[in-house]
Amino acid sequence: MQTAREEVQADKSRRYLLCLETTCDETAAAVISDRLEVLGAVVASQDRLHERFGGIVPEIASRAHLERILPAIDTALKQAGIAATDLAAVAVAYTPGLAGSLMVGLMAAKTIALVLDVPLIGVDHLHAHVYACRLASGQEVFPCVGLVVSGGHTSLYWCPNPLEFQLIGSTIDDAAGEAFDKVASMLGLGYPGGPAVERAAASGNPKAYNFPRAFLDDPDRLDFSFSGIKTAVRYTICGPGKVDFSKLNLPPQMVADIAASFQEAVVDCLVGKAFLALEKLGASTLCVGGGVAANKRFRQRLEEEASRRNVRLYIAPLKLCTDNAVMGAIAWERYHAGLFEPLDLDIQAGPLRPKSLTGSGASRS
Ligand code: KG4
Ligand code: ZN
Repeated sequence: MQTAREEVQADKSRRYLLCLETTCDETAAAVISDRLEVLGAVVASQDRLHERFGGIVPEIASRAHLERILPAIDTALKQAGIAATDLAAVAVAYTPGLAGSLMVGLMAAKTIALVLDVPLIGVDHLHAHVYACRLASGQEVFPCVGLVVSGGHTSLYWCPNPLEFQLIGSTIDDAAGEAFDKVASMLGLGYPGGPAVERAAASGNPKAYNFPRAFLDDPDRLDFSFSGIKTAVRYTICGPGKVDFSKLNLPPQMVADIAASFQEAVVDCLVGKAFLALEKLGASTLCVGGGVAANKRFRQRLEEEASRRNVRLYIAPLKLCTDNAVMGAIAWERYHAGLFEPLDLDIQAGPLRPKSLTGSGASRS
């Protein structure tokens, strides 16, 4: 009896795509068939390397990518049971991210494309986070509003189809995940902060502290801001001035209450703006991805609101929320449209600026 994987491998009409992801601190490679079957997937995490710094150190990240990228590709191909010469194309996340990290993935992808003489496909990492919903659900999710909430980005998109992503709102300062990480560090909860804050919040009162919810009451803005809430948490803990947070020794209930109140305020903003975007666009499908979408309270609030408003909601499954190469399957959409990149493709490290839906505030110079 053939296994499902062997059956796929025996079918010579299938084509295979290698996807690479090195935008931040995960080195990931995946092999996806043109029927969107995931045949190989590797994520080499660097969490332990960055843990003691309380955040990602770009230089360490790019060096670690250098060590891990070829073994990750080799493992993904072996899992898929194919040779590099079976690949129809190679895709790489080339924007946005840390410059040094992006360069490692892009150079690997370009080299493979050149040596095998196959097309190179550029993937926008944030679009790929939205596409994780399409891939996991097996459903046609477009047109939709896409919300990507990660350590580096908090962005809202209008996505009429899988090739068009119009940025309609984003954070004007910290990303939501970054705020989770910073608050975790102030509360002495460790890194990565999101899961640690979520765990602490489970035994806390979300109404104990009334933290700010930036722009939430402004119906003309689809933007986010999380630096104010970070400062508010700091003032609640210890006031201004230089502090060694590791020596604070806060009472456990206070830590839990701050974590729960902080989480609730961030979730209020994310949910509020996502549904405001749907309303403004007259859209009825919401796709949510990115590391923070792993947060259970966030998922629960999205589900409640979606069922109340009759919105079709897709949230990426947990292992596709955080960075991975599988979501690079969006490259098949570009492949089918003949959208390939030249071999002089450069990285684009920084995020793009949103276009205003209303003309009254979202765009900035
Ligand atoms: O998408 P991702 O893996 O990497 C980036 O592209 O940034 O997101 C990582 C972020 C980190 O800030 C992490 O603290 C946050 O996602 N995160 C969470 C949870 N799990 C990961 N935030 C809140 N609750 C979680 N359960
Ligand atoms: Zn990401």
